[in-house]
Amino acid sequence: MLVRNAYDKMIINAREMMAMFAFNVDDEISLRLLDERYAGELLQLINHSREDLREWLPWLDSTTTPRHVAEFIQGAWMMYEERSGLRLGIFYHGRLAGMVGFNTIDWANRIGIIGYWLGSHFQGYGIMTRSVTAIIDYGFNQLNLNRIEIRAAFQNDKSRAIPERLGFQIEGKIRQGEWLYDHFVDLVMYGMLASEWE
Ligand SMILES: CC(C)(COP(=O)(O)OP(=O)(O)OC[C@H]1O[C@@H](n2cnc3c(N)ncnc32)[C@H](O)[C@@H]1OP(=O)(O)O)[C@@H](O)C(=O)NCCC(=O)NCCS
Repeated sequence: MLVRNAYDKMIINAREMMAMFAFNVDDEISLRLLDERYAGELLQLINHSREDLREWLPWLDSTTTPRHVAEFIQGAWMMYEERSGLRLGIFYHGRLAGMVGFNTIDWANRIGIIGYWLGSHFQGYGIMTRSVTAIIDYGFNQLNLNRIEIRAAFQNDKSRAIPERLGFQIEGKIRQGEWLYDHFVDLVMYGMLASEWE
């Protein structure tokens, strides 16, 4: 029992240490690896924005319960531990506002693929442009990536505005690149190279 307790404590301590993975984007926004304590807040944010998000994201119908959200958070931890991705909560004035990060990191080719979403009430303040800027800085400067991609549905103007504002190049169109519930959408592929990022 003693060993078990010591082991449990070790795991918790390791998690607390990693939960320190957080950085301030500016004096309004911080990015943080979520832990189970945020499951309720994350589900509430998703529920308030469900209709908005469902237009462009494929996981809304499979994310409806606290358990689903807890599994998502655990998945983000696993990604972090395996270094296969980095999914971070965005906090705006201390409130959870959305998610941003690398959905995939291809280490062999030093490519990171960015994904993001914001709760409806948090849109229109530049929160995502600033968060994505910070993630790109982190990707090129800390992870030593060479290339960062963003894929956005052709008609998703708000999403496309982000890479365009940040100077990404349009590199092509992925025809019927994503299935959204009952139809395919074409995606625009945006790319940024380390040598192009200032
Ligand atoms: C894509 C999404 C994150 C964009 O959100 P957003 O709030 O428009 O993006 P930002 O936070 O960068 O804010 C940009 C807006 O704030 C304004 N803004 C204010 N201050 C700003 C600043 N400092 N920097 C940049 N923009 C600023 C911009 O003018 C822009 O407003 P506009 O659309 O009226 O021109 C959001 O629409 C979303 O979550 N959509 C659903 C999910 C989704 O599509 N995800 C992407 C899948 S590829």
